[in-house]
Amino acid sequence: MSDFPPSVAWTGDAVRIIDQRHIPERLEVRDLDTLEDVVDAIATLAVRGANVIGTTGALGFAQAVRQGLDPEESARRLIAARPTAVNLRVAVNAALAAQGEGRDPLDVALGLLDADAEQCRRIGELGRDELRDARTILTHCNTGKLATTGWGTALGVLYAKREAGHELHVLATETRPLRQGARLTAWELERSGVDVRLIADSAAAWALAKGGVDAVVVGADRIAANGDTANKIGTRALAVAAHYEGVPFYVAATLNAIDLSTPTGDDIEIEEREARELLDGLHAELPAWNPAFDVTPAELITGIITEVGVLRPPYGPSLEGAVSS
Ligand code: MRU
Repeated sequence: MSDFPPSVAWTGDAVRIIDQRHIPERLEVRDLDTLEDVVDAIATLAVRGANVIGTTGALGFAQAVRQGLDPEESARRLIAARPTAVNLRVAVNAALAAQGEGRDPLDVALGLLDADAEQCRRIGELGRDELRDARTILTHCNTGKLATTGWGTALGVLYAKREAGHELHVLATETRPLRQGARLTAWELERSGVDVRLIADSAAAWALAKGGVDAVVVGADRIAANGDTANKIGTRALAVAAHYEGVPFYVAATLNAIDLSTPTGDDIEIEEREARELLDGLHAELPAWNPAFDVTPAELITGIITEVGVLRPPYGPSLEGAVSS
């Protein structure tokens, strides 16, 4: 991942992130020195993407403990920074458990960084083989090098296809309102030499009907026990349109996005963000509703690409099997 600095790293006393709010205008690396800084960076999407908020949260926890803060309270504040991506809870709780057992949570956090990169590589390879014949792939939001500590989940599949020399054309949705697709995915893929074209979110159904799209591949913030999947707002509309057009729809995610304690998508807490994120250029009092995620029903998902294999319906048993493998 040498084309830009790591999405998150430990400097020895600070959590170093790429501040994703400034991309593509500038590549700014920022050191988070306090728990306050880490919580704020996660909540404001300075650092974003399920996998990297998990690893950032674990590093932030280790830092807080080193600074003498209360472990339980630090963990609680980190986990509350964003409610939908279960990776954050899993990673922070792993660091908290290590601390409780007298181990250094920093070792756990650093281990998670390495594991994430490794898991993403495996997802990429498995997805590459699954989607061997797909030449044009549509993706949503940003699931790549910025969102993980490796080459990404859904974008990992695209990088792996490119590495293998497959013909590949990517359609990246803009991803309103914060434009992770336009600002981050298009930037990231272009820098890596992947052929990418941006489309407005509102063009996606038409692209699926007319654009020769062979598959849709997206990430996940939480996969419920029955396979219902929460991901960036707009994912569900893509899945519905893909189903209508007969285009395969894949979720690519590390196993730590699977939450067997959440029975169905109805039980997933969906983060609602401030209306002002929608209101740029509009008058500030306009009533607005800004859910950050939606849930795609399991029945619309062709396969879930994880580091231990491509899971197929029925997802109840296949998810359980994958988690216990
Ligand atoms: O609000 P964001 O930008 O953190 O949302 C990100 C997504 O929805 C991604 O698809 C998901 O977190 C997977 S990142 C590997």
